[in-house]
Amino acid sequence: MSIPVVTVGQSREDLVGGLERLHGPVTVVRRCSELAELLAACQSGLARAAVVAEGSDELTASLVDRLAAVGVVIVALTDSASETARLTAIGVTAAPAGVDSAALAGRISGAVDQWSRPKPLQTGDGGFADTGAALRTQLGAEDDVPAEPSGAGQLIAVWGPAGSPGRTLVAANMAGELAAAGNSVFLIDADSYGASVAGLLGLLDEAAGLAQACRLADLGQLDAGALQKVATPVALKSGTLRVLTGITRADRWTELRASALGAVFEKAREIADYVVVDTGFCLEADEELSFDTMAPRRNAATLRSLELADTVYAIGSADSIGVPRLVRGLSELEVAVPQAAPRVILNKVRASAAGRSPERQLRDAWERYGPAAPIAAFLPSDSAASDSALLSGCLLLEAAPHSGLRLAIADLVCAPAQRNRRSSVLSSTAKRRLKG
Ligand SMILES: Nc1ncnc2c1ncn2[C@@H]1O[C@H](COP(=O)(O)OP(=O)(O)O)[C@@H](O)[C@H]1O
Ligand SMILES: [Mg+2]
Repeated sequence: MSIPVVTVGQSREDLVGGLERLHGPVTVVRRCSELAELLAACQSGLARAAVVAEGSDELTASLVDRLAAVGVVIVALTDSASETARLTAIGVTAAPAGVDSAALAGRISGAVDQWSRPKPLQTGDGGFADTGAALRTQLGAEDDVPAEPSGAGQLIAVWGPAGSPGRTLVAANMAGELAAAGNSVFLIDADSYGASVAGLLGLLDEAAGLAQACRLADLGQLDAGALQKVATPVALKSGTLRVLTGITRADRWTELRASALGAVFEKAREIADYVVVDTGFCLEADEELSFDTMAPRRNAATLRSLELADTVYAIGSADSIGVPRLVRGLSELEVAVPQAAPRVILNKVRASAAGRSPERQLRDAWERYGPAAPIAAFLPSDSAASDSALLSGCLLLEAAPHSGLRLAIADLVCAPAQRNRRSSVLSSTAKRRLKG
């Protein structure tokens, strides 16, 4: 069956006429005057392929995803090597501007063929459409573009339900402990409701590093150097944490699209040992409410982090409001991201809210509620330590290095041997504070 094709832009040769005259594997069903018209034609189910003869620089990963979601592949014409690389990175098949009609028809059929083949399941594929990622993998294979090595970096997502159970405090301090133990670490603020990593670390940051990284990924321009540039370095006495700060206003959440985020996480894993992501609380898959399944999703940042994470920590407040919330949240998480296998952490553990022998009381209560995941760890409530860290814009390892809270977080991510090494990683400020 002939492949229906829509086109936009004038090519150097009369390619469209050429394709029509081929009476071959493709049929031009519409010539569009701009990309918006082409998108609408594709979304109405008119075509299987789109040829962008001019203006390929307007193609972004999000647009490619929207077309991929309705089963349309894109072939774009360009003579620039850098534009060809960029297009390939965002999942577009590139062809030279002077390509003849028969060769172009071949490219189109090849791309459609490749798209139709069964796709290998991606690691962490939780069923949320990130069609662009699948397309990239396949086109990379077909066009013989050397695949970039997939880094071995571990992705850790720190999630918890509404009510500020301590996601940010735990995520930032885990990242700090890992960095102080000699690992290279990215800390990413992916909370699209209440970004707060910059505030916690005392960064005067209006840069929204994560949004910048997503923009570059969308344009196919996110390489290791670019990612380093948009990250804010935070020097610890031993080690450096690289931070992608969150969106500066909650209404900027549309800048964090699932496909771009996936690319940012992937790139961060390539260059770091650990990528720690502070997520939002909400797990609603709002695309189910929307006709346009590739419209940006309010909770994309949280869901994508949880889908791709190697380890998910679920943090709850250890009190009569926080525990039931966490129990409900865990069943929502089970539905939203079945592969997450969260490690449950009860934070702010204190006798004043949980009764005498709080850990035993909490374990008993947990068994009565009956969620499948056991409690993996308890973190003590320690307002003196957490307030002192907030006040100085430091992590606990600097502001309260001997506090039980700091040591309990360190125990979550570092082996005891590394923890001993860390006793000498206090900054001079922290040492002064200790002496004083
Ligand atoms: N174990 C703890 N003991 C005392 N205070 C804590 C503890 N964990 C978090 N906090 C405090 O609770 C508040 C909310 O923490 P935060 O990490 O911002 O929560 P979330 O990211 O879940 O909204 C902050 O003021 C933080 O300092
Ligand atoms: Mg937070």
